[in-house]
Amino acid sequence: MKISSLLLTLTVCLLYTSCTSEPPAKPTNLTQEVMIPKPVSVTASGGMFTLTEATTIRTQGNFKEIAQVAQHLSDYLAPATGFSFSVESGDGESGDGHILLQLDEADTELGDEGYELNITEEALTLTAPQPAGLFRGLQTIRQLLPSEIEKNSPQEMNWNIATGTIRDYPTYEYRGAMLDVARHFFQVEDVKRYIDLMAYYKLNNLHLHLSDDQGWRIEIKSWPKLAEYGGSTQVGGEGGGHYTQEQYSDLVEYAQDRFITIVPEIDMPGHTNAALTSYPELNCSGKAAELYTGIEVGFSTLCTDSEVTYQFVDDVIRELAALTPGPYIHIGGDESHATPIEEYIPFVNRAQDIVRKHGKQVFGWDEIANAELVENAVVQYWAEAENATKAIEQGGKVIMSPATKTYLDMQYDSTTELGLHWAAYIEVDSAYIWEPTEMVEGLGREHILGIEAPLWSETVTNMDEIEYMAFPRLIGIAEIAWTPAADRQWEDYRTRLGQHAPYLKALEIDYYASDLVDWER
Ligand code: ACM
Repeated sequence: MKISSLLLTLTVCLLYTSCTSEPPAKPTNLTQEVMIPKPVSVTASGGMFTLTEATTIRTQGNFKEIAQVAQHLSDYLAPATGFSFSVESGDGESGDGHILLQLDEADTELGDEGYELNITEEALTLTAPQPAGLFRGLQTIRQLLPSEIEKNSPQEMNWNIATGTIRDYPTYEYRGAMLDVARHFFQVEDVKRYIDLMAYYKLNNLHLHLSDDQGWRIEIKSWPKLAEYGGSTQVGGEGGGHYTQEQYSDLVEYAQDRFITIVPEIDMPGHTNAALTSYPELNCSGKAAELYTGIEVGFSTLCTDSEVTYQFVDDVIRELAALTPGPYIHIGGDESHATPIEEYIPFVNRAQDIVRKHGKQVFGWDEIANAELVENAVVQYWAEAENATKAIEQGGKVIMSPATKTYLDMQYDSTTELGLHWAAYIEVDSAYIWEPTEMVEGLGREHILGIEAPLWSETVTNMDEIEYMAFPRLIGIAEIAWTPAADRQWEDYRTRLGQHAPYLKALEIDYYASDLVDWER
C-alpha cells in the first residue's frame, strides 16, 4: 500500500470510528434498544460488548439450575453465531469477553423473576436472586443482539451489544396464556413451540384447557375411555387425539425447564360432553351422550347429585395432581347453563374440596365465585364483573382475562378469516390499551394476581393459525403483565413493535401484520 492511500484509510477510519468491513449492526446506546416487554430501568454507558468465538459462559456457584440456564444461553446463541460456547462453572472472576451468570439472593428488589444485566466492553454479567430471573434475563440478551441471532444457521455478523445496565422485574406475578387443546387438538411439538414463544416474552404460566364438549385430551388411567373414546374427535369431526400421561409429563418438564408452570384445566360441571359420551353413569339419564363436533356451548352437565360423579372427579383430580408440580388445578366452572344454580353451587364446593384434598390450589372461571370459595382460590375474570367482585369479597385473588381484550381467538376486525367476534373485534391497539386495575370497580392492584390471554380453538386448527391469532396481541399482553403501568404508552409500544418485526421474522412467527403498525422490513 502506498503511503498516501494508507493515510487516506487512516483518515477514513478516524472519521467513521470503525475500520471493520461491516458497520455496527446495532446502535451503541442501550437506552435506544427495542425490548418487549419494556424493562423497568435502562442506563447506557456508550460502549459495545462483542460476542466472539472466544466468549465463554461462566456460572458462579455450582447450582444445577444455573448450569441449566447457562446451557439455554449457549443453545440460544450457538446456531446463528456458529460459536461453540463453553460453559464453565466456578467462582472465578469474569475476565475479558465472558458472560457471567450469578445468583445474588440479597438483591430482594428484583424478586423471584427479576434480574440485573450489567454490560461492559469486557463482560456481560447477569445477576438475579433466583434462577428464574436469570432465565428471564437471557431473553433480554437475545433481544439486545441483532435479530439474526434467532436464525438456525451461522450468520456473518458483528454480534454487538450496547453497554450499560438494565434492572428489571415483573409487575404481576402471574403472566399467562391459555391454549384450548380440546376444541382442536394440538400435538406436543406445537405446544412446545408455544412454550418457547411464551418464554421469549417472559410469560410464566401456560393454562391448558384439557377437556370440553368436543374432546377429552389427557389420559386418565382409572377412567381410560375418557381419552380413548371422548378424545377421538374434535370440532369438524376429523382428527382429535390426547396426551398420554408420559407425553403430558414431558410437556410439563419442558415448560418447567423454561420456568413456565402448566395449569391444567378439567372443565366441570358443564363443557363435559366428551366425558358424558365415554361413561353412561356420568349422565343423570344413565345413557351415554353422543360425540359432539359443533361449536355450541352450555348444553352439557355432569349429574351433580350422583356419587359416581364425585368418584370420577376425585379420580381425575388425583391423577392430574400427581402429574402437576405447579400449585394450581383449574376446575373450569364456566357456562354451566344446563346445571341449575342450586346444583351448581354444591358441585363447585365439593370439587374445590377435592382439589384441596389432593394438595392443590383451586383455580376456576369467574362463575365459581357464586359458590363458597376455599382459601387461596384463584378466580379467572373473563365476563362478569359481578363475579370478580364476589371473588374478592371472599378473599380470592383474580386473574384478569377480559374477553373483550385478552381473548386471542377474537377477530382483529371484520375482515379476519379465522376466529370469532362474540366478545369484540380486538385490533392490536385494543389488546394493548387497557389497565387491569381499571376493568372492574373495586378491583385494585392488591386483588390481581396477574393476567392471562386465552386462545380458544373452535376455528383454530394448526400452529400457523395459532400464531396468526396470538401474535402480535400476546406480546402486548405480556408487556401489560410485566411492565409498570406508568411506562406503557401505545405510541411508544407501536413503534417498538414495528422495530421488533425482524425478530418475529427470524423466529418464523406467522403474525398478523396489522396496518396500525409500521413494520420494519
Ligand atoms: C369462557 O370463555 N367460557 C371462559
